[in-house]
Amino acid sequence: MIDQYTIDRIIDAAEISEVVGEFVTLKRRGVNMLGNCPFHNEKTPSFTVSPAKGIFKCFGCGKGGNAVNFIMEHESLSYPEALKWLAKKYSIDVKEEEETPEQIKQKDDRESMMIVSAYAQKYFSRYLNEEIEGRSVGLSYLRERGIRDEIIKKFDLGFCPDGKDIFSQNAQKQGYKMEFLEKSGLTIKRDDWVRDRFAGRVMFPIHNVAGRVIAFGGRTLKSDKNIAKYLNSPESEIYHKSRVLYGIYQAKRDITRLDKCYLVEGYTDVLSMHQAGIENVVASSGTALTHDQIRLIKRFTPNITIIYDGDAAGIKASLRGIDLVLEEGINVKVLLLPDGEDPDSFSRSMSSSQLTAYIAENETDFIRFKTKLLMKGANNDPIEKSRLVNDIVRSIAIVPDAITRSIYIQDCSRLMDVQEEVLYDQVRKIIQKQTEDLQKKSYRDNHQNPFDPDFDPEQHNQKPQVAAVKSQYTCEIEEREIIRIMLKYFHEEVFEEEDENGEPISLSVGQFVLEEIDNDGLSSDNDLINRVLDLFAENLDNPAFKPAPFFIHHSDPQISQLATDLLADKYIESKRWKKGGAFVEEEHEILDLLVPKIVQEYKLSKVRFMLKELEKQIQSAAATGNWDAVMDCQNQHINLKKVAKDLSEQLGNRTIL
Ligand code: CTP
Ligand code: MN
Repeated sequence: MIDQYTIDRIIDAAEISEVVGEFVTLKRRGVNMLGNCPFHNEKTPSFTVSPAKGIFKCFGCGKGGNAVNFIMEHESLSYPEALKWLAKKYSIDVKEEEETPEQIKQKDDRESMMIVSAYAQKYFSRYLNEEIEGRSVGLSYLRERGIRDEIIKKFDLGFCPDGKDIFSQNAQKQGYKMEFLEKSGLTIKRDDWVRDRFAGRVMFPIHNVAGRVIAFGGRTLKSDKNIAKYLNSPESEIYHKSRVLYGIYQAKRDITRLDKCYLVEGYTDVLSMHQAGIENVVASSGTALTHDQIRLIKRFTPNITIIYDGDAAGIKASLRGIDLVLEEGINVKVLLLPDGEDPDSFSRSMSSSQLTAYIAENETDFIRFKTKLLMKGANNDPIEKSRLVNDIVRSIAIVPDAITRSIYIQDCSRLMDVQEEVLYDQVRKIIQKQTEDLQKKSYRDNHQNPFDPDFDPEQHNQKPQVAAVKSQYTCEIEEREIIRIMLKYFHEEVFEEEDENGEPISLSVGQFVLEEIDNDGLSSDNDLINRVLDLFAENLDNPAFKPAPFFIHHSDPQISQLATDLLADKYIESKRWKKGGAFVEEEHEILDLLVPKIVQEYKLSKVRFMLKELEKQIQSAAATGNWDAVMDCQNQHINLKKVAKDLSEQLGNRTIL
């Protein structure tokens, strides 16, 4: 942990244009600086740095934040790592706060495992390139497969000596402890014997995003069917297979630059694609793709093309992968290789430009892919066709973003010759059913049958909680607008109210907004928004509190990202209004009108949503015959309607300064 004093010093020192300037050529444009975005491929610069605000923002890809965020993003570092990077640049001594013994132990363990893994990688590489056994067995195998030296070097390939424990003995002689050799899985130790896990195998180090070695895959050179072709490091404190993608470290720069990631199956596929000049490629290492892996890719791009072998297993695997990727809100394309080919063999059979052209011509979006695939068996049979449409519609319904969904619907409509309205209707039904299932489930969880032996009377006496399910982040636009207005004008005093004695007191934008929200007990569905509102509330009476720098430089990257987005120049300011008949240019001049209007819009939108939710609950409670719950919801419905009416009256009581 870096202490707060040091963090503040680093943030004060880190001048945004200097930090960004290390990586991007910036030109002055008025008060801002402009350059080509390092996070996506662009020809006309849309990457802006505001030295005054201490932020960067790309109006092309949307990335933005403070100096620390920039380093985190650009160098793929964690928050403390980015702070240390900046501390080094500005020669600030980093004093770390005392950690608990457990924290130290855990950190030291992880660090020791990484150190031992780094040593092992160097040892294996040296062994491959310099020792007789390594060269004659390992290197000649790789060369025979046509893997060039530059690729061997780029991926730090190596060879583990074929013997009982040659590597482990050596490591210990160099002072590496058995405890960490064992924990990192390099050595297998039982009471009476020790041996190298990877003896006699060609070694593929697995790097994390930051480029440190955290595990290995080892390929046997024996053709014996009883020996596993690949052995991988076991799960450990530094290696969680489901969260890692092979090749991400070597690929991340090109994934970002080209705004696209190819996903293949195996180690050698990644190597061959690099060799063919395609470097934005990672492998899931033979296992089914996981959510964590998709999220890892999403840090760099929302565009994935899954490349699979053209055999039946490959097709099945790609169908499974698609829904998972769709669910994460990613644009997914599929490329099936000709039967019998994998990316490794295929990329060898043609030149690099032919390969690039082949991919561009043959990758298809998932609808086209599924359609082509499933149509084959359908033969214009109407029943088969409707089954196919349903299948595709189910995939579309998984996509979280409504706009993307509608694009897919248009595609599907065109390809399958089905009216868009019909498809919309289907998708809506599926989503509705999913929501209802969730509601029913939460309802069942809260209403047990008294004849059930597991019946818990304690729980039954509680108020019915039908409201548990909220599937989306409602009122997003209004909530962001409220936060934007507070970021800019928190302390501005623009309202007048009367206290208990009828004395006039003035009210700031912050006081007004927070009081309004508090009075109605409103909170957001979104955690981030609630945290930001809490931070505003904590600082309500603090005159030294400056919301813009406070939030922009907040240590939580989500918070600083939100603040940056809302404060960036091009963010559309609220509509200009007429005041007293005259046209007012600056929103600053009309805060007295604007702020109540924004709050009112927020509340109305909230209330409207709550009313809709209640109506749904009434329906489902009625369907299950729970009349207590129906009545309860109906009462709430009536009360809420009153709240909606009261809203405008409340606003009328304020006097404008
Ligand atoms: N794999 C594994 N364990 C195995 C077999 C495969 O972990 N016993 C993983 C590896 O990551 C491998 C991937 O699954 O790269 C794909 O398997 P496969 O296609 O069989 O291997 P290739 O990568 O094609 O390796 P090679 O070309 O050397 O046969
Ligand atoms: Mn292969």
